[in-house]
Amino acid sequence: MTPVRFCRTLVRRRHHLPAIGDFWEKVLFNTAVYNGRAMEVHRRLHRREPLTAAHFSRWVQLWDDAVDARHDGPVAELAKAQAARIAVAIQRNLSAVGDAASQRAELSLRPAAARSR
Ligand code: HEM
Repeated sequence: MTPVRFCRTLVRRRHHLPAIGDFWEKVLFNTAVYNGRAMEVHRRLHRREPLTAAHFSRWVQLWDDAVDARHDGPVAELAKAQAARIAVAIQRNLSAVGDAASQRAELSLRPAAARSR
């Protein structure tokens, strides 16, 4: 499945928007309770269709563009930094599922400093 089709799937699932709202409210302001299902949700997706470096790169790019188009200031910067960090965390978690594609995805997104360690 192409990255764009994946993103469309996400947008179509409007019933998940409240969960995603809670997730970001918790990440950015710590003012919501989020049930923490995100890892499991992406693991399930990954088993169905491996999530690759291209998917995560595109996701992060779309997220950064969306944030930049609507917001600026310290919270906007935090939203972009946290998204990149969480994208790496999800990929690391997926690579534990043992898929070679996701391991490549993780390597290509890891910051240069971390890679040289
Ligand atoms: C390859 C990149 C990604 C794809 C294709 C993707 C796709 C999806 C899809 C299809 C769902 C709905 C799944 C379902 O419930 O059936 C979902 C849920 C969600 N995603 Fe992602 N996602 C990606 C990356 C990310 C990242 C980087 C974050 C966080 C920074 C994130 C945060 C979430 C959250 C919070 C939910 C809601 C989970 C819940 O129901 O509690 N996703 N994603």
